[in-house]
Order: sequence, then structure tokens, then C-alpha cells
Amino acid sequence: MCAKQVKKVGDVETTGHEWDGIAELNNPLPRWWLWTFYLTIIWAVGYSIYYPAWPLLTQATQGMVGQSASGDTRLAVAEEIKRFDDANAPIKAKLVAADLNAIAADPELGGYAKAAGAAVFKTWCAQCHGAGAAGVQAGGFPNLLDDDWLWGGDMEAIHTTITHGIRNTTDPDARYSQMPAFGTDGLLEPTQIGEVVEYVLQLSKQEHDATKATAGAQIFAENCVACHGEQGLGDRTQGAPNLTDAVWLYGGDRAKITETVTKARFGVMPNWNARLSEDEIRAVAVYVHGLGGGE
Ligand code: HEC
Ligand code: HEC
Repeated sequence: MCAKQVKKVGDVETTGHEWDGIAELNNPLPRWWLWTFYLTIIWAVGYSIYYPAWPLLTQATQGMVGQSASGDTRLAVAEEIKRFDDANAPIKAKLVAADLNAIAADPELGGYAKAAGAAVFKTWCAQCHGAGAAGVQAGGFPNLLDDDWLWGGDMEAIHTTITHGIRNTTDPDARYSQMPAFGTDGLLEPTQIGEVVEYVLQLSKQEHDATKATAGAQIFAENCVACHGEQGLGDRTQGAPNLTDAVWLYGGDRAKITETVTKARFGVMPNWNARLSEDEIRAVAVYVHGLGGGE
């Protein structure tokens, strides 16, 4: 700052306040600041006339644009939702009445079902199956994009799975099966578990100990084929996974397989018939079926 501009004591009036010999000068406020200040006051007066603003006893002032900050905004939203629902009612009724397998091919129904199903999926399914339906790696949440199905991948099977869920306690028609906890329940000795795990590694074409796997094959035949099948290809009526491929629900390395055989797993999915309407369930079934792995 130029020395000239520095004001000396006496050039400007003081406000009369003084602390420890330091006096407060009474400089005028900058003009731009004052005008901005006046403008905000004018703006506020205009705003509070135009829009609902002042709280009164039961309601706020109404304003001039027909808006309200109280109950009727909610009413207006509810009305709007109802308008959309009413507009979609005929197509939803058609969706519920249609043959499940004919929906996707019908240009009108198929298009609606995929869009509505994608929205349902985002809201209700993505937290477990992932936003892209690719599942959560080794977390027990299956990938819905592949053609590897635990319980079946045709429209009827997918529709049933979504409607009733899996191993939940809320729907008596839920899909159900339970793999025994071979280690925890003492059905197999740790060495036997080690052997059968080597056999599962062999089945899935991974690096394994051949001697142990040969012993494991016998254990597998006695304890596992009832659900996983002679060849380890799985059984959809029991939701028993195929053990010969590279797709794993809980992880396919030696440690993960050992953990599965020792403690078993118990994947639960809620039933959706309690939370979603039939048209929503059908829409999301069509969406899932159309993701790439549907049969
Ligand atoms: C709380 C987590 C959770 C939510 C939410 C969830 N799922 Fe699942 N879902 C699972 C689990 C866990 C399994 C596998 C169960 C098992 O081990 O058999 C599964 C399995 C499935 C299967 C069977 C896959 C197969 O291979 O047979 C389908 C289809 C499915 N879910 C669709 C959906 C749809 C559609 C929604 C949304 C409406 C949904 N899920 C919401 C946890 C969930
Ligand atoms: C009563 C039927 C049943 C029997 C018997 C059974 N399993 Fe299972 N197994 C299942 C089911 C069902 C699942 C899927 C569990 C889930 O989804 O939560 C499964 C899952 C697995 C998995 C996990 C697969 C993955 O993708 O992560 C492995 C590994 C496995 N079983 C191995 C075995 C072995 C080894 C034996 C024999 C010692 C055996 N199972 C016996 C029903 C059975």
C-alpha cells in the first residue's frame, strides 16, 4: 500500500472506542458492499412475497406460484406417482396374465419388462448380486450373467427362485437343501477332508496331489455324489453346484474348498413375493433371464 494512502490519526473520525491506546476509525463501508447488502434485502422481500415463506399458525404464507411447503407437496407427489401407476396398470395386468416364456419375445411387454425389471434389480437385488449382476466374488452371491445355474436358468426356474427365495425361514416354499458340515459335525476326519479336497481340485482341473485325490475319489463317491453327482456336475434340484468348472460360489482354491467341506455353507436369499408385486417379480425375472445366461 502507498504510504500516501495510510491515514493518520486525526484524518478520520474515531468511533470513540479505544482499547489499550488503539482507537477504532469510523471509515465508511465500501459502496459496492452496501449496494449488495441493499439488493439482498430487496431480493428477500420479493422472494417472501412470491414463494411460501412466513410460518403462520397452521400453514405458511401461500406465495404467488401455488407452491406450498406443507402437506400438499407430499400430496402432489403421491398424485403424480398414482398417475404413473394408473398409466402403467394395463401393461402390468398384461404382464401378469401373459405366458412367462412369451413375455421377452413380445415387443411391447418385453421392452416394458426389461426396463421395469432393471429398476427393480437396482433397488432390491444389486446390494447382493452387484449392480451389474456379476455377483460378489467368493461371497456366496452368484453371478447371474453366466450360464452356470445353481437352481436352474429357464424362465420358470428363475421366476420360482425369485418368488420364494432360497433357504429363508419366511416362505415355506423357499428352495431348500443343506450340505452337511463334514468337519464340524465329525462326519469326516481332517485327513479325509484333505483327500476329498484334492479330488475336488482334480475335478476342477487344478493343480492337486494325485495320491490323495485317488483316496479322495472314494470319499467323494460315498459322501458327496448324492448331491454333486457322480461326475461332480451338480444337481439343480438341490442347488448343489457343479464342482468341475471354474465358477465358484465361495472360492475354488484349496483353503476355500477345505473351509466349505469342513463347515458347509448355507446361502440364503429372501423370498420376494412378500415385498414385490407379481408384475415386478415377472419383470425382474425377464430382466435376469435376458442378462446373458438365461436358458
Ligand atoms: C440378501 C442378499 C440377496 C438379495 C437382496 C437377492 N439375492 Fe438372489 N441370491 C442370494 C444368494 C445368497 C443366492 C444363492 C443361494 C444359494 O447358495 O443357493 C441367490 C441366488 C439367486 C438366484 C439363483 C441363481 C442360480 O444360479 O440358480 C437368482 C435367479 C437370484 N438370486 C435373483 C435375485 C433377484 C432377481 C433379486 C432381487 C429381486 C435377488 N436375487 C436379491 C442373495 C440375494
Ligand atoms: C446334501 C447335499 C450335499 C452333499 C451331501 C454335499 N454337498 Fe457340497 N454343496 C451342497 C450345496 C447345496 C452347496 C451350495 C451351498 C450354498 O449355496 O450355500 C454345496 C457347495 C459345495 C461346495 C462349494 C462350491 C462353490 O462353488 O463354492 C463345495 C466345494 C462342495 N459343496 C463340496 C462337497 C464335498 C467335497 C462333499 C462331500 C464330502 C459335498 N460337497 C457334499 C450340497 C451337498
